[in-house]
Amino acid sequence: MKFSTVAILLSLASTSVAYPFMGTPGAPRHYQEWSKENEKRQLGFNADAQRIDVSGDHAFKPPGAGDLRGPCPGLNALANHGYLPSSGEISLDQAVSACNKVFGMGIDLGTFLSAYATVILGNPLSLSWSIGGQKAGLNLLGLLSPPQGLSGSHNKYESDASPGRFDAFLNGGNPAELSVQNFENLYALQPGETGGNYDLGVLIDHSRRTIQESRANNPQRFSGPFTGPIVSSAAHTFIPAFMSNHSAERPEGFLDQDVLKSFFGVTGTQGNIQSQRGHERIPENWYRRPIGDEYTIPAFTLEAVELQLAVPERVAVGGNLGTVNSFTGVNLADLTGGVYNSQTLLQGNNLICFGYQTLLTVVPDVLKGLVGDVSSALNVLTSRVAPSFAQFNCPQIEYYNKDLFNKFPGAGAGL
Ligand code: HEM
Ligand SMILES: *[C@@H]1O[C@H](CO)[C@@H](O)[C@H](O)[C@H]1NC(C)=O
Repeated sequence: MKFSTVAILLSLASTSVAYPFMGTPGAPRHYQEWSKENEKRQLGFNADAQRIDVSGDHAFKPPGAGDLRGPCPGLNALANHGYLPSSGEISLDQAVSACNKVFGMGIDLGTFLSAYATVILGNPLSLSWSIGGQKAGLNLLGLLSPPQGLSGSHNKYESDASPGRFDAFLNGGNPAELSVQNFENLYALQPGETGGNYDLGVLIDHSRRTIQESRANNPQRFSGPFTGPIVSSAAHTFIPAFMSNHSAERPEGFLDQDVLKSFFGVTGTQGNIQSQRGHERIPENWYRRPIGDEYTIPAFTLEAVELQLAVPERVAVGGNLGTVNSFTGVNLADLTGGVYNSQTLLQGNNLICFGYQTLLTVVPDVLKGLVGDVSSALNVLTSRVAPSFAQFNCPQIEYYNKDLFNKFPGAGAGL
């Protein structure tokens, strides 16, 4: 069975009407899970269309000398299987189409993520970026400084309290490396070595731990308006959303121990996990999300809100004050001139609107240090992303008080 994106959006919209307590704090989660799974089951399963080829040109080939890999296991795996260039230096459009084809990421979400990467950590003139660190020998014509790549994007894109990766400050400034301890903590949330299912509920539990540990261990912990509620939440929801295997019996997908380990490039058993950097691998006989059930911006927003209702610390913008356990929040109404506030952030499209509108406000300033022509670089983001945001009618931020971040030593660009 094949549904258009419109049908999916309509069915998502009607779900929240039919089940008015969906997304209400304290609502029984099993009911929400049930309605969502039921909805996904209706999509059915098509083995030929959902099976991902890992043979021939797409056979696993770990990175060689000079190949760049970074904090994102999804992008690393795509590069290890020839769905992205193995160099790790990729184009804006290559990322969008590879994420869509292999993982079922919506074109809207892929375009948003990749266009933002291009302008903030890549080369907006050649429309390319690195999934790892800086690429050697780039043509820097028109740029004021070398693009830092995804690994060098701390607090512009990459953020603290990831499901697997270290906080930058706690790992000598390197946030791209997997913390085996973090992975062990996640892995142990399902019993035994087989037959588990790391679904959204499990990742919500894990996200409660990752944020508490970041606050308790990292004096420089910071959660920006985009990197915190959006990116760091996505890093958790993406695990079940994209890594799950699908079958005729379980068209809604399931993510067991072996598949999780393969996508994270680790081997071993509980208490004995070993990580091989850059070896993220798509398993043999793995089936992606159903065609027509792409993980779009609205689908992501629903799951991010579900996560944040369960773990309210995940919505909070702010940081530690240079000592551990000193987390201080920023009042979002003060930050945005009253356009957004914490009370209504999880309603409607406010969450994703707040993230996007913050980017539009802050990115031009950041670009002044990166490119000669700020407005054409900014246009790479706005021209590509504005069409998918038009439907949300996001309230615009006119006044943005970035000074509120001055007291946080780890704020960086404050994104
Ligand atoms: C253009 C597309 C993408 C971009 C720009 C992107 C970017 C990023 C960034 C910046 C991070 C670090 C987040 C953090 O610090 O917590 C990250 C982490 C992550 N990404 Fe991606 N990503 C993309 C696509 C994907 C896809 C297709 C998957 C599918 C599996 C994925 C799965 C993940 C996961 C699971 C993490 C957390 C890793 C960990 O903490 O160990 N991403 N990504
Ligand atoms: C995915 O599920 C199918 C059906 O249960 C199974 O045959 C296949 O081996 C699974 N793939 C992986 C990588 O576990």
